[in-house]
Amino acid sequence: MISTRLHPDKQSAAQAIAREMADLIRLRSESGKATVLGLATGSTPLPLYAELIRLHREEGLSFRSVVTFNLDEYEGLAPAHPQSYRFFMEANLFRHLDIPAANIHVPDGLAADADGHCAAYERAIRAAGGIDLQILGIGRTGHIGFNEPPSPADSRTRRVHLDEVTRQDNSVFFGDVAQVPHGALTMGVATILEARRVALLAFGSAKAAIVARAVKETPSADCPATWLQRHPDCVFHLDAAAAERL
Ligand code: GLP
Repeated sequence: MISTRLHPDKQSAAQAIAREMADLIRLRSESGKATVLGLATGSTPLPLYAELIRLHREEGLSFRSVVTFNLDEYEGLAPAHPQSYRFFMEANLFRHLDIPAANIHVPDGLAADADGHCAAYERAIRAAGGIDLQILGIGRTGHIGFNEPPSPADSRTRRVHLDEVTRQDNSVFFGDVAQVPHGALTMGVATILEARRVALLAFGSAKAAIVARAVKETPSADCPATWLQRHPDCVFHLDAAAAERL
């Protein structure tokens, strides 16, 4: 089931979700347990990551007991490539926290055996105890992670072909659409649905149409975000503009 939560703006949403994450991390670490977070890239989660860094610096929130799994990575981009998701995560979150490097997982866009790497990624999530809280954005095609249409509900971490709409949308970061990779490695829909809690963030009128489809359409591979309706604890954190078609 998808429930929606309206926030006055993206900063307020970031504060609320960061607070939820901090409570979870503190609660679990008090009883000696790790917290496993599923993380997303894109411009949407940036205020959330800035708030987590602030909580670490100003309120002493420690990430020593946190394990992370990122949703996806472009195929063919090295970790040092400025547009790789590994680079994005290091620059915007990890390097500012006390999270142990060994606890960080991002799919390897250069994996020689991509299929084997994806299977190992699934095993690593399971070995860590599964994802406690998965952060998601949403693409205009209805993708979550890089699960482009058509992505079935039972899809797992795998190689995917990027939709031209997504390549066009993401070309702003690359300068030129020709530079945007055609492929990616992404957690699957089933991988995402296994997270115990899911928080999807969407802000601004450009997301209104796809948010409405995700919430209202019958779940199908044609709009992968609709599969979230089958999750028992999925919250869409929205501002008024992103919620205007609900
Ligand atoms: C990217 C990512 C997604 C992200 C989406 C939206 O392609 N793979 O995980 O949610 O696009 O990006 P943005 O937040 O910049 O709108």
